[in-house]
Formats: sequence, structure tokens, C-alpha cells
Amino acid sequence: MKKVKSKVYSKKIRSAVFISGRGTNFKSLVDFSKKKYSPINIKLLITDNKKAKGIIFAKKNNIKFKYFNYKNSHRSETKILKLLKKNNINFIMLAGFMKILSEKFIKKFNKKIVNIHPSLLPKYKGLNTHQKVLKNKDKFSGCTVHFVSKKLDSGKIILQKRVKVFRKDNKLKLQKRILKIENKIYPLAIKKIFS
Ligand code: GAR
Repeated sequence: MKKVKSKVYSKKIRSAVFISGRGTNFKSLVDFSKKKYSPINIKLLITDNKKAKGIIFAKKNNIKFKYFNYKNSHRSETKILKLLKKNNINFIMLAGFMKILSEKFIKKFNKKIVNIHPSLLPKYKGLNTHQKVLKNKDKFSGCTVHFVSKKLDSGKIILQKRVKVFRKDNKLKLQKRILKIENKIYPLAIKKIFS
């Protein structure tokens, strides 16, 4: 993997992470944010799932978190935007957030939003990426960190890493192997954006 130059930041970017579940990428971003060469400071966790495991990690790390029920996505987005403003958030990282942000939200936030996706974009946008890779007998899969644009999983790519697909792979094995790489490249991609 290409090395990204380290720089020490005196003023870190106030950031938020959005998750829907497990939160391994959230954890890896929080660990990274604590390093002195990290450009970000994670101030807020947003989730649409009350039971998201990542909440436990946020609590342990004194990171403010807020759950939005998304029964009405427009209303939830309006509330989220207010909260982001109140907390002076300037950067959003989506990490397994399974709701699609509206065009209006993306425009209104008008700052940087990035996402991690478990495939080699532009291949396999959307859901069930690992099943698609296995069904098509692809030799490689991987993961991608990209900017969020109004079209799903289509924004500019920041960093991408290939992972070999083995003949004996099943969905779970492949997913686990790719997730480990995701946890590594997400912080590297953030470093790259601000270097
Ligand atoms: C990750 O594999 C991430 O790429 C994927 O959800 C998982 C979350 O894992 N995101 C998407 O599929 C978004 N389209 P985590 O909660 O352990 O970070």
C-alpha cells in the first residue's frame, strides 16, 4: 500500500461519523483521530439504529451520539443538519450508514462527505456487493473510499484497495477479509484528503 505523508495538525477538523450497525470502521476512524498526525477530531456519532454496536464504543470514548429514527427521512435529515451546525461539524464520514442522503442534504451541508463501500467502484454500487462478486466469479474484489455525490456510490474515488477472491470463498469469508482492509484504508484516505 502506498505510504501517505504524515503531517502534524494543530487544529483538527471537527467531524461526524454516520453508522447503522457494527461500527468497525467507526472504531478505526476514532483510533486514528487520536493520533497527532490525524487531521480529524471526531465530535459526533449519528445513527439510524438504536442498537448499533458503535454506540457502545462512542460512549466509552466520550463521543456524543444521537439516534434518528428515520421514520420520516426528510424530518430526520433536517434535524441532523441542525445538530451538525450546532456542533460546528465540517466533515462527515459515512461508515456503514445504510440510508441514502438526499441531494438536498448533500447540497445543504455543502462541506465534505465521504463514504466507504465494499467493492471496487465503479463496479457493484448499492447492496449485496460480495454476492455479486461471487456470482460473477470475479478474481478480485476490494473496497473504495470516495466522496459522496448526488448519484449513489459515484463520487470521486479517494482510495481503493484490491482483495483477491479465492475459489473457496463464501460471502462471509470475503466480507470479513474486505472489512479488515476497509478498516485500514479509511484512515489512510482521510489522511490523503487533507495532506
Ligand atoms: C462496511 O463493509 C461498509 O463498507 C459497508 O457496511 C459495512 C459496515 O461495517 N457499507 C456499505 O455497504 C454502504 N453502501 P462496519 O459497521 O463494521 O464499519
